[in-house]
Amino acid sequence: MFLANGVGMKNFRYYLGLVLLTAVGGVGWWVFQSREIAAKPGALFYPDDVQLVAEGKELYGANCASCHGVNLEGAQNWKTPGEDGLLPAPPHDETGHTWHHPDEMLFGITKFGLAEFANLENYKTNMPIYKDSMSDEEIVAVFSYIKSTWPQEIQNGHDEMNQRNAEAKSPGA
Ligand code: HEC
Repeated sequence: MFLANGVGMKNFRYYLGLVLLTAVGGVGWWVFQSREIAAKPGALFYPDDVQLVAEGKELYGANCASCHGVNLEGAQNWKTPGEDGLLPAPPHDETGHTWHHPDEMLFGITKFGLAEFANLENYKTNMPIYKDSMSDEEIVAVFSYIKSTWPQEIQNGHDEMNQRNAEAKSPGA
């Protein structure tokens, strides 16, 4: 699938970079980096990576806050369609439904759009498509920030959902 391939390619490039740098930089650096990039099963986001979360917060403020709220609170009356008949932007904090979706889906919606990713042809929405304006790394940073703001038990439940999602795709793996 496109998403898995894209992410696999990214990891591959990352590892290649690591191998090259390790050759010059030494083993200590390797140990440090490999700990830092350890993802939880099925996860694409890193809510525990303080630096990535800080970058994601900036990117969220610049790209998402105008609709989803400076404090992730969403638009007012976000459950009711607006005058244009379209749904307003939902919150990304724990009162919304962002945490109901696994990482892969959140990434896909943001990069490729609700219509394309969720296979809803002609679905009209004010949610932009970011494939030409944000890199994969930037999208990962934004959601790492968003996830880092959720209460711990919601983060834990979301980790389990990511794991179930990954297992459903590759049974027995
Ligand atoms: C121009 C306004 C606007 C901007 C800017 C915007 N969104 Fe949205 N977003 C929406 C709307 C409206 C919806 C609800 C779409 C629907 O259900 O029809 C939405 C829905 C979503 C959803 C699916 C619902 C959910 O919570 O799972 C995700 C994920 C999302 N946006 C992420 C982002 C991210 C990340 C950014 C910044 C990179 C962003 N959005 C920027 C308007 C916006």
